[in-house]
Amino acid sequence: MEQRSKWGTNWGFLLAAIGSAVGLGNIWRFPYVAYENGGGAFLIPYFVALLTAGIPILMLEFALGHHKEASAPKAFHYIDPKWEWVGWWAVLFVMFGIELYYIVIIGWCANYMRFSLTLAWGDDPNAFFSQFLGKTDPGNIWGITHLQWHIVTAVAVVWFINWAITYGGVQKGIERAVKIMMPILMVITCTIVVWALFLPGARMGIQHYVTPDFSKITDLRVWVAAYGQIFFSLSLGFGIMIAYSSYLARDTNIFKNSLIVGFANSFYEVFAGFGVFSILGYMATRQGKEISDVVAESLGLAFVVYPEAISLLPYGRIFGVLFFFLLAIAGISSSISIIEAFTAAIHDKFAFPRKKVVTTICVIGFFGSLAFTTNVGLFWLDIVDHFLNQYGLIVVGILEALIVGWLYRTSLLKAHIVANLGLSGTHHKFFKYVVLQLWMYCIRFVTPVALGIAIVNSLMQEFVEPYAGYPISGVLILGVGWVLVTHVVAFGVSGLPWKGKTT
Ligand code: ALA
Repeated sequence: MEQRSKWGTNWGFLLAAIGSAVGLGNIWRFPYVAYENGGGAFLIPYFVALLTAGIPILMLEFALGHHKEASAPKAFHYIDPKWEWVGWWAVLFVMFGIELYYIVIIGWCANYMRFSLTLAWGDDPNAFFSQFLGKTDPGNIWGITHLQWHIVTAVAVVWFINWAITYGGVQKGIERAVKIMMPILMVITCTIVVWALFLPGARMGIQHYVTPDFSKITDLRVWVAAYGQIFFSLSLGFGIMIAYSSYLARDTNIFKNSLIVGFANSFYEVFAGFGVFSILGYMATRQGKEISDVVAESLGLAFVVYPEAISLLPYGRIFGVLFFFLLAIAGISSSISIIEAFTAAIHDKFAFPRKKVVTTICVIGFFGSLAFTTNVGLFWLDIVDHFLNQYGLIVVGILEALIVGWLYRTSLLKAHIVANLGLSGTHHKFFKYVVLQLWMYCIRFVTPVALGIAIVNSLMQEFVEPYAGYPISGVLILGVGWVLVTHVVAFGVSGLPWKGKTT
């Protein structure tokens, strides 16, 4: 059995965990979700979600992985073998669902970096994007006619980069890579945000971003959006944070790490939002339109609205290359963490050598990603993404809270966190008896109830109409099917005997 990997430093771990959290979701998803759900007022449900579910679950995942020195399935196996499937389910649907299309989107970014140099989208970025994807009629989501080869090539390159990083292992691969990628990410983000803030119209864009619309916060859907954003953005329910913290030194301060990662991720997305909305303000001003006429959701924002802005901007080509490069590295620092979470799980259970596991899953992953590179790839991506995010991640979050909060002695995890608080006297007592006691209440009551409400609300929407008006067969087979098949496989794998140490 190989020795368990270790981070070189806690700093390296923090960069890797923040790198995992900061991803595509922070740059294109957060600003739009915030704008749609009450602008500045959205920050209220958002921070409530961060404090009642985000940081508590993050601390739970960190403490569990660190205490048990285990990947997600192994950690749950230690709690009770009958819950091992929860860990498998998380790493399975994330690796063979979210990761497959996440890498395809990074591949699009790579293509768009090249397109930025020539402003290849001309004066119709929307038509260009459809042509780039080879997009056909959304009503015919089974009508696969071909692969988009330029996307396949980019996807192969992105998988290769992911393989090259994770193959090096935790310290020599991931830690080394994030020490290079994260400073670059910060420098480019600051450059873009500052650049954007000085554009004419930026102030108007920012006003739309931050002006509070308090009427929205009584709408339950806004709260659901806040919890969903926090989960995806903090990489919770992915099994990543459990695996990452299992590689930490024994005396690490889990409490401090959770706060640093939780707040750094939120700071990053709120900050990036200023850049995004400054650009939208600039576009609206140049085109004499309202912000509501230029804003678009997630993929549309990055691949349609931004290209339009890049064409208008002075030195837009440089801006475009920087922006898509930023998305690509934010994406890669997250995609490597997904591979690591799955590698750790397989390695823990079957004691297969890490490098072989990494190579095998990257090859399988590449072929799996092809499903999202066809002419109907965008529709598949949209459906799979919706179901895995809304139901996969949130259900894992609820199960984590319930299993740890009710079936396991949360006090053991609390004692583990307390032991490394590095405080003494009144401060120690305050954190032990007040702050961490509140954390335990959150895990047992507040988090599962809040996430439960979110999921029931989402489920009710599904019955109103099939997601985004797609054919019901697509929603059932791709969406519900993906969730169920990974579930069944998770049960199957959890029933196999352990080769790795479990005591
Ligand atoms: N946490 C990652 C993101 O926000 C997955 O994109």
